[in-house]
Amino acid sequence: MIVIFGSINMDLVATVPAIARPGETVLSPGYRTLFGGKGANQAVAAARVHDGTVAMVGRIGRDGFGEACRANLAANGVTTEPVAIGEAVTGCAFIAVDARGENAITVASGANGEVAAADLPEALLGPATLAVMQMEVPLAASLDAARRVKAAGGRVIWNVAPFPPALAEAELAAVLAATDILVANELEACAAGALLGAPADDWEAAARLVAQKGQTICVVTAGAAGAVAYAPDGSRLHAPALKVTPVDTTGAGDTFVGLLAAEMAAHGHLADALRLACLGASLACLAEGAQTAMPTRAALLAAAGKA
Ligand code: RIB
Ligand code: NA
Repeated sequence: MIVIFGSINMDLVATVPAIARPGETVLSPGYRTLFGGKGANQAVAAARVHDGTVAMVGRIGRDGFGEACRANLAANGVTTEPVAIGEAVTGCAFIAVDARGENAITVASGANGEVAAADLPEALLGPATLAVMQMEVPLAASLDAARRVKAAGGRVIWNVAPFPPALAEAELAAVLAATDILVANELEACAAGALLGAPADDWEAAARLVAQKGQTICVVTAGAAGAVAYAPDGSRLHAPALKVTPVDTTGAGDTFVGLLAAEMAAHGHLADALRLACLGASLACLAEGAQTAMPTRAALLAAAGKA
């Protein structure tokens, strides 16, 4: 069973010629409301390919966005019983996407900020549980939940996105101690590595140090360069990305994490999981929005056949 413990957002997406700089105003012809939130995105990515249960733990507000988000998760085959209704509004992400498919995102956390460790039902814990955490709900709640998963014999994948700017070394150490596989992009890997004393701007060195000091697998998603996994003993795996012309990279990282979780839950083979997660993340860049272009298993296998 896969348990996603994390955020649920409605994304308001505007296409802009160039992303506004501080103090600048740019015009977009319109905007779209699309389903998002790193947690929800990862749940949908996993559910599109996974045969077993994918359960979402999180909070929405008592509003139209919240109900729509819950319905969307259910329509994608995600179990939503553990999704609670909080006091605050449903989380909302304001996203600008430029002509090259790059984005800038502001997340208004709302009900995601009320997520508590107790939201994770005891019934979802056990040796077959693979839980996935990110950084869009309170860290203390994610840490407690991850520890409960580990104590029950389960496994934890932790996506350190977005990387909290004020994360303390002790907090990173606590995350690493509760994690089997850490997933970061290049910048997040550098940020984590810097806390442990790695040289700046070298994500490979950073990832190696994180894996070794944290005694965990450290996976770095490196865009067009694919993904690399470091083990504590320094050994390294690489998987290539597909050559694509990105339309919108929003959700590519979440697709990677969701697919990694699905493959690890199904067979536990890291090299294969890394390869399919990379393929899926590439495909996810081919349409606007986070969840729009997330592949089904058939789409993934078709892409793997061509790769
Ligand atoms: O990773 C992409 C997601 O980050 C978006 O869907 C947005 O909701 C933000 O949380
Ligand atoms: Na996309």
